[in-house]
Amino acid sequence: MTRKKHYLHKRNKRFNKLIKIYMMKKYLIISFLVAVVALVSCSDVKRTPGKVYMPDMAYSRAIESYTDLAYLKDQGIHFDAKPVAGTIARGKEMPFPYAMDKPGDSTNYVASKMVPNPIDSLSVKDAAEAERLYLINCGICHGAKLDGNGPLYKDGNGPYAAKPATLVGDIKYESMPAGQMFYSVAYGKNLMGSYASQLNKHQRWMIIKYIKDKQAAAKTTATAAK
Ligand code: HEC
Repeated sequence: MTRKKHYLHKRNKRFNKLIKIYMMKKYLIISFLVAVVALVSCSDVKRTPGKVYMPDMAYSRAIESYTDLAYLKDQGIHFDAKPVAGTIARGKEMPFPYAMDKPGDSTNYVASKMVPNPIDSLSVKDAAEAERLYLINCGICHGAKLDGNGPLYKDGNGPYAAKPATLVGDIKYESMPAGQMFYSVAYGKNLMGSYASQLNKHQRWMIIKYIKDKQAAAKTTATAAK
């Protein structure tokens, strides 16, 4: 090794050492700064509300349901998120015109006979849906055959004491107008409860049409057998 080379080698070594120390120091300084920032900023006391990136995506400016709309009133806007009284949503049935009778009164029950079923025929698909709804909600008492002898009654041996109406095979119910059936399903009748919360208006009318169709079919087969 020449003197010059030797010198250069030594210088390089020293230089490398310096760089190493410098790098280590750099990391030390950086970690020290990070630790200081973390310690200073970590606190459970919230001093500012913070910043929101794109606030109109986080907070909708549209009127949302279930929000407090009182602030609109303060601005002179009378908006209560309810449909205007007397209006009917497109594609929805007319409201049932009779309210529930007061106990002991049967004025509306009698008057409801005049309300026609808005559904005058069921498509194959709707008939299947009506049967499904009937079997879920009514069949347990009125029976899958609509004979008033569902599994809850079982000829009086079931847990349900009251005899459910024999919807097919009893002239009383075969001649009962659809509107009156609707009244009973909507508000309940004696021991039968209201089905207004389980079935919407359209579904109730569908089931009643299904019952009426079953009654008619049973009558035709009975006449044919004679
Ligand atoms: C928990 C048993 C039970 C269920 C479920 C039930 N009913 Fe009834 N239903 C009865 C009983 C009991 C009566 C007889 C009430 C009376 O006249 O005392 C009755 C009566 C009726 C009547 C005659 C009402 C009248 O005005 O005399 C109709 C129509 C009727 N039910 C339809 C339905 C339909 C449709 C469903 C399904 C949405 C249904 N029921 C579900 C027990 C039930």
